Amino acid sequence: MEIIQPEHINRAVTIVRQGGLIAFPTETVYGLGAPVSNEDLIKKIFLIKGRPANNPLIVHISDLNQVQSLAFNIPPTFYRLADQFFPGPLTIVLQKRPEISSLISAGQQTIAVRMPKHPIALELIKGLDEPIVAPSANLSGKPSSTCVWHVIQDFEGKIPAVIDGGSCEYGIESTVVDLTTPSPCILRPGCISEDLLEDALGIAFKKATKMEKKASPGTAYRHYAPEANISVFENLHILETYLDQKERKKRFFMSTENLSGFYLVNPSNLYALFRQANEENAEEIILVSCLSRLEPALKDRLEKAIFYSQKPTPFNHNVQA
Ligand code: TXA
Ligand code: MG
Repeated sequence: MEIIQPEHINRAVTIVRQGGLIAFPTETVYGLGAPVSNEDLIKKIFLIKGRPANNPLIVHISDLNQVQSLAFNIPPTFYRLADQFFPGPLTIVLQKRPEISSLISAGQQTIAVRMPKHPIALELIKGLDEPIVAPSANLSGKPSSTCVWHVIQDFEGKIPAVIDGGSCEYGIESTVVDLTTPSPCILRPGCISEDLLEDALGIAFKKATKMEKKASPGTAYRHYAPEANISVFENLHILETYLDQKERKKRFFMSTENLSGFYLVNPSNLYALFRQANEENAEEIILVSCLSRLEPALKDRLEKAIFYSQKPTPFNHNVQA
């Protein structure tokens, strides 16, 4: 896989124009991009990731004017949020224009739009002169990529190039907010919190219903989890009792508090630590954390990881993107 330096984004533009998929950095995680008008490449994204066709993709824009070509009936609340949080780690679900490929929206009538803050992502979109459709640049069943090495691990020999933007600033995916429902709701927590969004709009959000969550199936897949089971302990005392009673295993120790001998987890290194645990063939991940006290985005990803890590790997692993 070719590693393109940020000063050579033209090279990435050429590769995409010749029909290649490109991985690129954003401020949240790396994305795997294709131009919004290129259905063949968009199909390739699903194929290469092993992503279920019912999981819609986010369209990344570099200019607010591009929204009108993607969505219609755009509510004033969109512009209020865009004004405050674009460019940045916020994705907004709007009503999709019928001419936009339903591959992107996975057959739904809505379209998710975000303007990334990362200069490389913005330059790539500008270079291609159209919005870029991009999921996180990870294989099915793997955590999102937060550096070039993760992209290489997952896609060596499968995509022609990645643009090197170093490590991602936030490390977890954007907040997804749905503005097509009667009142706005958060489909995926991220670093732009519900409080910030409520303040910006001056209204209280409601909890996403099961139906609304169904519209956002990506929030339910196993890719947030490492391969080993995660066991959670609120404090060291409980952990010690547990370890005394258990057989010896290859364990990977992490904590959301500063503890000696433990990796200190935060949103920006969470996925890198999960990948490290996989590489070290850890049989069990020990997490010391008081989950209820964590910020919602980190709590969400850890809870999902715990839940899915404790489930047996499904028969058809490819269905879990
Ligand atoms: O930070 C991010 O959002 C990263 C970077 C690359 O931009 N992208 C990302 O994409 O996380 P992906 O495909 O891994 O996750 C997209 C999420 C999924 O949970 C998907 O179900 C949801 O957004 N989504 C996309 N379009 C949607 C729509 N029309 N309605 C509801 N949910 C949607
Ligand atoms: Mg993803």
